[in-house]
Amino acid sequence: MTFLASSFAVFLLSVMVGIRADDGMRIVGGEAASPGEFPYQVFIENVFNSTEILKCGGALYNQEYVVTAAHCMYFKDLGTYANPKRIWITAGTTDLEEGANAPQGDINRDKQITRVVEIIPHPKFEYKKYEGDLGTIPTYDIALLRMNPPLKLNERTQPISLAPADYVVQGNGTVTGWGRPDPYGKWTKQMRKVDIPLVDWQQCAKMFKGYATVTQDMFCSGTLEGGVTPCNGDSGGPVACRYDNDPSGRSFLCGIASFGPNRCPNYSVYTRVSAYVSWVEEQVQKRQTA
Ligand SMILES: *[C@@H]1O[C@H](CO)[C@@H](O)[C@H](O)[C@H]1NC(C)=O
Ligand SMILES: *[C@@H]1O[C@H](CO)[C@@H](O)[C@H](O)[C@H]1NC(C)=O
Ligand SMILES: *[C@@H]1O[C@H](CO)[C@@H](O)[C@H](O)[C@H]1NC(C)=O
Repeated sequence: MTFLASSFAVFLLSVMVGIRADDGMRIVGGEAASPGEFPYQVFIENVFNSTEILKCGGALYNQEYVVTAAHCMYFKDLGTYANPKRIWITAGTTDLEEGANAPQGDINRDKQITRVVEIIPHPKFEYKKYEGDLGTIPTYDIALLRMNPPLKLNERTQPISLAPADYVVQGNGTVTGWGRPDPYGKWTKQMRKVDIPLVDWQQCAKMFKGYATVTQDMFCSGTLEGGVTPCNGDSGGPVACRYDNDPSGRSFLCGIASFGPNRCPNYSVYTRVSAYVSWVEEQVQKRQTA
């Protein structure tokens, strides 16, 4: 592998959705998403000050909670968690253009922006360096954000259910977000989508051996040999999965984009949501009955 694991940290904060041919000749950035196609996808802007800003994706658990990556809430270089008062959540749109450039009318008909009142990172979240790894990686990389005011649910703002606890990663997943359509490009203001083959953790752990430790609470996307290679999605952003044999075609949240090698080569690593179902439910229930 040609990537430098020491640049993981840089990669974590870069938001990418795309497909890159390994020969470097062709860069394909997935496709634009249509308004309402991924009503669970939200955009998270986490501002420490004018230079330290984390932009991430997230998925709606319900109208009050977002599921995202814990590393999106943590300023690694500063060693500090975000201030909930300085986080903005945008829902209900595929478009992030602001001000005079923002398209009017239908595309932003149901756009909503709300605030965060509580950050709930997984208590075991940390950047960890395993023995033999070349860099630190985020572990237990999941967090909930409680929003207030809650979002209004409609055609373009809808929750997605969590993967069943016994879900085994298989087939393709759908990654969405506002990432750069190519590894060196600019950020996009229009949401994109890409279908990516999901890789069993054992295979992935083998791939990353000597660079990073992929645990059983993670899985990967990518292809084994060259050709078209999916990049990772927005940090914190959702991977939606479905059962191949489910006639309803219902999809659920199976992964949260967590980390990958710099410059978006073959593999990306996700938090395996099925491992955290009871943690998420417990957090939400605890606060509802409080
Ligand atoms: C933002 O905060 C960091 C850490 O305290 C600091 O190094 C940087 O200079 C700040 N940037 C501005 C523009 O104040
Ligand atoms: C899975 O994704 C790959 C890469 O985008 C695509 O070539 C393939 O057709 C997809 N497979 C299915 C079953 O959708
Ligand atoms: C992953 O991508 C790198 C860089 O393009 C390449 O050298 C390596 O062989 C790829 N790994 C596999 C298993 O294809």
